[in-house]
Amino acid sequence: MEGHIRAAHLRSAVALVGVLSCLVTTVVEGKVVGAFVLPHGGIALDPSHFNTTNQTALQQAWQIHNAAQKVGRQINSLRPDLLFLSTPHGVADLTNFLFYLNPKGYGSADTDNCACPPCCYNVSVDIDSAMSETLVETLQREDLKISGLSAFGPPGGADDPFPLRWAEVIPLHFISSLNTTSVAVLSHPSRRYNHSVAMVPELLRLGKSLYKSLEASRQRVVVVVSADLAHTHSADGPYGFSPAAQPFDQACGEWASTLDATPLLVNATSLVDEALSCGYTGLVMLHAILSTSSTWRPTLLVNHHPSYYGMMVASFIPSA
Ligand SMILES: *[C@@H]1O[C@H](CO)[C@@H](O)[C@H](O)[C@H]1NC(C)=O
Ligand SMILES: *[C@@H]1O[C@H](CO)[C@@H](O)[C@H](O)[C@H]1NC(C)=O
Ligand SMILES: *[C@@H]1O[C@H](CO)[C@@H](O)[C@H](O)[C@H]1NC(C)=O
Ligand SMILES: *[C@@H]1O[C@H](CO)[C@@H](O)[C@H](O)[C@H]1NC(C)=O
Ligand SMILES: *[C@@H]1O[C@H](CO)[C@@H](O)[C@H](O)[C@H]1NC(C)=O
Ligand SMILES: *[C@@H]1O[C@H](CO)[C@@H](O)[C@H](O)[C@H]1NC(C)=O
Repeated sequence: MEGHIRAAHLRSAVALVGVLSCLVTTVVEGKVVGAFVLPHGGIALDPSHFNTTNQTALQQAWQIHNAAQKVGRQINSLRPDLLFLSTPHGVADLTNFLFYLNPKGYGSADTDNCACPPCCYNVSVDIDSAMSETLVETLQREDLKISGLSAFGPPGGADDPFPLRWAEVIPLHFISSLNTTSVAVLSHPSRRYNHSVAMVPELLRLGKSLYKSLEASRQRVVVVVSADLAHTHSADGPYGFSPAAQPFDQACGEWASTLDATPLLVNATSLVDEALSCGYTGLVMLHAILSTSSTWRPTLLVNHHPSYYGMMVASFIPSA
């Protein structure tokens, strides 16, 4: 009898210590161990093919490339179990955010002035389709517009890899620990092309829910947002020139170096329809992911537009 009581006490003491150490670990480390903004422009991938006579632009391209490589090494050193990758123009649904649900992903990218082949930069990744399906179910319960997509076979069981292209391949190419890390890929819906400002409240809600779900998982998670900035820096570029481009990129940079909401949610939001940035919705979602918890140390590594589109590299590390 007494033995039972003692055992019960012991069990509750052990349970209490378990709960306490769990709380302590959560406070000290958290499950989202870092977040990063990486560009997906071909110039960032390999500036050696960047065909320009403008030495300033070439130098800026190398600065972006070197910063992305540095972030890649930083991600490796965080030893993530899961890379959560947000892509603005992957395989996209009109309405729903999508998680890719094949067990593997594969694809290639090239650079702005040298197409594949011969300039092929290929990436193969393991997709955590079970975790991705769990996230879909959780977020659907919160009435978010989200679904999952498997290519050429059932979720988690398709033999072929899910097709990846430049917005996924280029950020992933900078991360060499893909053999020990699986990924969850979230593809933004194509309504973002014309309705990204209207999506802001939804993106903030999505980011908040994602943060809670990722924190609740037992994995060490690194969040990567694949994003380029304004596409209207140059009259010669495919989208022409807009006076909104430069202040848009500056506002995004200000946000990335401070996590202050105003430059992103006020300044950049008022400019994005003119600036034309594929990265905007991912940045707003990331803002909500990061502002759901207490303290992050934001660092803007670089923010340039060596050609018609802007690119920045930024890191956000828990400061505790
Ligand atoms: C590089 O730029 C020059 C001048 O604009 C052009 O003549 C040449 O075809 C370009 N080369 C490539 C590989 O794009
Ligand atoms: C990389 O991908 C390209 C295009 O998808 C393909 O032609 C090439 O064989 C691949 N290279 C390697 C090394 O797998
Ligand atoms: C993963 O790849 C890196 C280099 O790309 C290598 O150094 C490391 O040993 C590999 N790890 C495993 C577990 O295969
Ligand atoms: C966005 O609007 C433009 C101009 O109205 C239209 O041509 C284009 O098809 C729209 N794109 C999407 C994805 O809805
Ligand atoms: C945001 O816009 C305000 C008002 O136009 C301006 O004063 C401020 O400098 C802008 N901030 C950034 C970071 O661009
Ligand atoms: C060279 O590139 C820089 C950086 O993109 C740009 O500010 C500058 O105007 C360019 N110079 C010329 C002559 O095009």
